[in-house]
Amino acid sequence: MDIQSKEVINGWNLFTLKTDNVQIDILDYGATIVNLYTKNKYGEIGNVVLNYENLHDYLENPYYLGSLVGQVAGRIKDGLISIEGNEINLEKNEGNHHLHGGSYGLHNVKWESEIEKNEDFVCLKLKYIQTEERDKYPGNIEIVVNYILYSDSTFEMTYEAMSDKDTVLALTNHTYFNLNDDPSKNIFNHAVKMNSLKYLQLNNELIAEKVIDVAPGPFDFSSYKYLKEGIEAGNEQNKLVNGYDHMFLFDDKGKIEVEERSSGRKMIVSTDAPAVVMYTANDPISLNNIQAHYHLGVCFETQRVPASLWLDGLPTITLKKGERFKQSTKYEFMILD
Ligand code: GAL
Repeated sequence: MDIQSKEVINGWNLFTLKTDNVQIDILDYGATIVNLYTKNKYGEIGNVVLNYENLHDYLENPYYLGSLVGQVAGRIKDGLISIEGNEINLEKNEGNHHLHGGSYGLHNVKWESEIEKNEDFVCLKLKYIQTEERDKYPGNIEIVVNYILYSDSTFEMTYEAMSDKDTVLALTNHTYFNLNDDPSKNIFNHAVKMNSLKYLQLNNELIAEKVIDVAPGPFDFSSYKYLKEGIEAGNEQNKLVNGYDHMFLFDDKGKIEVEERSSGRKMIVSTDAPAVVMYTANDPISLNNIQAHYHLGVCFETQRVPASLWLDGLPTITLKKGERFKQSTKYEFMILD
């Protein structure tokens, strides 16, 4: 186990966390996962996340590749939040709505860093104070992200946050996985299973409008389903977004299993977040040496539920003044028999 850092461009640092089986490279700009190498069934190591070869591209990063997303990940209808009866208008950076924390989100700031190493794990701790002045959400919020790689090669992301005013918060990570380790191949052959019985149906502006049952049909991942099967199912909700771009609510503790059988890779994601947005890269992504293509990766954005701001009965995204927010998501990488 090891953790190292090197200065790259723009005064940014790239950190490498490593065991014999897994290597993760993380940029302090945007708290971004740049590479995540795991072994395939032949013991060969390959990168299973999408990235830009040229680190300069992370300044713009229109697809949020690998970044931490917040202050509220996802869409806020009409860019409107109401805190203790006060209405606050956030930036409308996507049509009439607010997306992924707006132009002053957490994906485009440099985070302060600290590293820790002991017998059981290596950890990169990143910290940022998001001010009310900068992003217009109420409160100054201290956010700490820990990226922890354990000796058994489990990777954990934890978030902690505290605000000096009542506010709203929903953090996530926007890594696009492609377990083929070859981003010229799409993710159609990824089989996904998760413990969710309900998902949020979208209107044509991609705003959640209703909680509905996943079954029967392409949103039912209670047993393994190839993403191809769902994307091509012809369901109106899949056609609307050209794949999946939907929030699934976990029944119990969040668990997602993903298998890519030709490489023999399997990933298990476990989280204490109440929901996940599964996004199948529905716009053509153009990466340095690869022609723009649809469905090059799949994101599992484990997070809280912004639609609770306008729909009843959903878990809240409120963060009270002085309250400590915590969230953890773990990734285990294994080889199929
Ligand atoms: C997702 C979002 C998509 C798209 C994407 C960024 O999280 O749900 O609609 O905006 O981020 O390309």
